[in-house]
Amino acid sequence: MAANTLTQYDFFDADPARQERYMDRVCSFLSQRCDTPPLALVHSFGCQQNSSDTEKLKGMLARMGYGFTDRPEEARLVLFNTCAVRENAEDRVLGNVGALKAYKAANPELIIALCGCMMQQPHMAEKVKKSYPYVDLVFGTHVAHMFPELLYTCLSEGKRVFNLSEESAPMAEGLPVLRDNDLKAWLPIMNGCDNFCSYCIVPYVRGREKSRPSKEIIREATELVAAGYKEITLLGQNVNSYGKGLEEQINFAGLLHQVNAIPGDFRIRFMTSHPKDCTHELIDAIAACKKVCNHIHLPVQCGNNRVLREMNRHYTVEEYLELAAYAHQKMPDVTFTSDIIVGFPGESYEEFQDTLELVRKMRYSALYTFIYSRRSGTRAAQMPDPVSGEEKGRWFQELLDLQEKIGLEEHEAMVGGVYRVLVDGVGKTGEGYLTGRTESNVIVDFKAPKEIIGQFVQVRVTKARNWLVLGELI
Ligand code: SAH
Ligand code: SF4
Ligand code: F3S
Repeated sequence: MAANTLTQYDFFDADPARQERYMDRVCSFLSQRCDTPPLALVHSFGCQQNSSDTEKLKGMLARMGYGFTDRPEEARLVLFNTCAVRENAEDRVLGNVGALKAYKAANPELIIALCGCMMQQPHMAEKVKKSYPYVDLVFGTHVAHMFPELLYTCLSEGKRVFNLSEESAPMAEGLPVLRDNDLKAWLPIMNGCDNFCSYCIVPYVRGREKSRPSKEIIREATELVAAGYKEITLLGQNVNSYGKGLEEQINFAGLLHQVNAIPGDFRIRFMTSHPKDCTHELIDAIAACKKVCNHIHLPVQCGNNRVLREMNRHYTVEEYLELAAYAHQKMPDVTFTSDIIVGFPGESYEEFQDTLELVRKMRYSALYTFIYSRRSGTRAAQMPDPVSGEEKGRWFQELLDLQEKIGLEEHEAMVGGVYRVLVDGVGKTGEGYLTGRTESNVIVDFKAPKEIIGQFVQVRVTKARNWLVLGELI
C-alpha cells in the first residue's frame, strides 16, 4: 500500500443499494488476492451506541468475505471504532493505534482503519494524517454506512482515504448486522444529540438528532424476538426526545408501548434518558409496560443547581427528585442508576457536597462516575477551571466511597428476596457458578447447570457483595 498518497474523499451517498454493490466489489477483489478468507480485527472503544455501530461494520465485513480474529498478526484489516467523550478514551485509542505500527511493518498488506466519534473531529483526523502515516482509512460517524465504498477505494487505488463528511441523511436502513451476543441486543432508535451540554463533545461528532421510523424499529425488534433474543436495549443519546422530526406522530412513551406489545417473553431496556425530557407520561408507560424493566438510567451529572445551569442541563435538583419520587410512587421497586461528572469548571467543594447529598437521597443502585475532561470546541472548554486535578481526584474518591457504601447496603437489602434473573452465562465467582442480571440490572451469581443459560429463572439472593449478589436457584 502506498501510504504517502492520499484521497480526501468527502463524497456522501445515503443509498444502501450502492453499498451492496461495493460489498460485492470488495468481495471479488479479495477473492482474487487471498487463498483463505481474510481476517479482520475489529474493536469498539466507545459507548453502547458505538458497539451497536460496530456490529453493523462487522455485518458489512462478514458480507465482504471477512472472518474475524483477535490477533493483529493474522489480520488483513484492523478497524477501530473510536470514542471522543473524554481524553482518556482518546489516549487509549492512540496507544492502541501506535502499537499497530510494528504489525504494519511486518505485513504491508495490512489495512488499518479508524472510524467513529474521535475521527469525526477535524483536528484528530489531521493528527492521524500527519503522525500515523501507516493508517490507511479514516472516516467519521456520518459515513459509517459507506464503509464498503471507502474500503474498496482504499484497496483498489492503494491510497490513504479520509472521509469526514458532515452531510446528514436519515439513518441508513437495511445494512447487515453481526451481533456480538445472541441473548441481548442493542437496537438504535435514534442517533445524534441536540442538547449541547456545555462539557460534551457528542453533539459535535454525532450531529443532530435523527429518529428511526417506528415501523423499522418494530420490524427489527420483532425479528430479534423471533430469533430468540431475550433482552432488547433501545439506544439513543437521549431516547426521551425520540420522534422529533419524524412525519408520524409518536414519542418515546408511545414507542415503548408498541415494542411492549410484541408477543414473546423478553425484556426491554433503554438508554439514555435525559431528565429534562423525562415526563410523567413516560414513567406511566414504563410502569404500564410489563416487559419494560423497572430501572431508569437517568444521568443527573451533579447535584447543584448553579453547576447544572452552567452545564446547560435544563433541570433543577428539585425537578429531578420530583421525577424520582413520582417513579417510586408508580413503581415501588424501581431502581435508578446515573452518570456523574466531578470537577466541572468552576465547581467548588461546597457545590460538590450537594452532589454527595443528592446521591445519598437517590440511593442509586450503580453510578458511572467521571472526572471532568476538557473537550476542545465545547463551551466548558472556555470556562476557568481553577481546581487542580489532584483536588478533583480527592473529591472523586469521596464520591466512590459513598457509592460503594450505598451500593453494598442496597445489595444487602436484597438478601432473602426472590428475583427474576436472565441467565447470561458462566459466572466468575467460582466453579459451577452461572451469572445473570435482575430487572434492575444487578449481577447475580449462583450455582446451576449450564443448560439454563439464556433462560429467565427465579433466584433467591443469599449474600451481598460490592459489585454483585450471590443467590440460589429456586
Ligand atoms: N447522552 C447521554 C450520555 C452520553 S456520554 C446522556 O446525556 O446522559 C456518557 C457520560 O459521559 C455522560 O453522561 C457524562 O457523565 C460523561 N461525560 C460526557 N462528557 C464528559 C466530559 N467532557 N468529561 C467527563 N465526563 C463526561
Ligand atoms: Fe452529551 Fe448532553 Fe447530549 Fe448526553 S445529552 S450526549 S451529555 S450533550
Ligand atoms: Fe459514544 Fe464516545 Fe461517541 S460515548 S457517542 S462513542 S464520543
